[in-house]
Amino acid sequence: MTSPAPSHAGRYPAGSLAFPHRGLLGIAGLAPHEILFLLDEAEQWVELNRQPHKRDDRLAGLTIINAFFENSTRTLLSFEIAGKRLGADVVNMAVAQSSVKKGETLIDTAMTLNAMHADAIVIRHGSSGAVRLIADKVDCPVLNAGDGQHEHPTQALLDALTIRHGKGLSRDSWFNGLTVTICGDILHSRVARSNILCLTTLGAEVRVCAPPALMPAGIEAMKVTPFHDFDAALKGTDVVMMLRLQQERMQGQFIPSPREYRYLYGLTPDRLARARPDALVMHPGPMNRGIEIDSNVADLDGRSMITRQVEMGVAIRMACLDVLTRRARGVEGWA
Ligand code: NCD
Repeated sequence: MTSPAPSHAGRYPAGSLAFPHRGLLGIAGLAPHEILFLLDEAEQWVELNRQPHKRDDRLAGLTIINAFFENSTRTLLSFEIAGKRLGADVVNMAVAQSSVKKGETLIDTAMTLNAMHADAIVIRHGSSGAVRLIADKVDCPVLNAGDGQHEHPTQALLDALTIRHGKGLSRDSWFNGLTVTICGDILHSRVARSNILCLTTLGAEVRVCAPPALMPAGIEAMKVTPFHDFDAALKGTDVVMMLRLQQERMQGQFIPSPREYRYLYGLTPDRLARARPDALVMHPGPMNRGIEIDSNVADLDGRSMITRQVEMGVAIRMACLDVLTRRARGVEGWA
């Protein structure tokens, strides 16, 4: 860090005013104190998840549906574990065997989910905006687990919590003075979008680095500095966040070859040496080892936060599920 992070000016308001939103569709529209509130709420779950007995029954009797219309390993598992550790009944909708494959519209799927009286619905979908469409049709809180190239808010929150822990920041701290470089397929990445929104809202300096074909036009409007030269982007960086090439979202050729991509944009030990000596390495997974990140960087003890990100993910999702169901549970100050 180049300068000490200033203290959060004034605590967040009490009760439901601390987080007045019905669901979590994105980081866009969240105030800094609302983001810090969710991070602070997650701290108790980081502690609990490190105990042998990892159970709190505050969501007992509630039903959570995970509706994942796109493949997922860690996000689905993380939401499932989060719901179960809070005592909820968690149901995973297997899309491959669902009526979606028979041509049911998204609205009809939403109405079906709603009729089952779920208390929260977690949705991942391949189309940007699909999660909001469903959220508008159901009565319970909806959490976006990734929609197309749009947003992946719980990923950004878990990344922020990982940075807070990895850099030893106090609960009240914003991220002023921290420089974060996000490198890879910025164009197709909902992780990049949500992280840019979250990190800039908390005051960090954000650099994005990609080959020209994978850099969105007008990205400067998101208050970031774009780079095509990875070595230049890394200079003075406190956190390096690597992204996968999202081949499944690419139509046509975006990079000359994986070998050339690694040469220019892969995080190797030599390259990491250009960042600050204590720079943290992050990756949301799944990783393509040997392309965007070398194994001896991904597994670098003390510097790589990749498994820590997974750990923080469960805590963040527990916090989100708890906070978003408080109104329905009649929690004092939230009813
Ligand atoms: C990311 C996603 O699905 O957007 N993964 C994740 O949630 N951990 C990133 C990716 O797929 O590359």
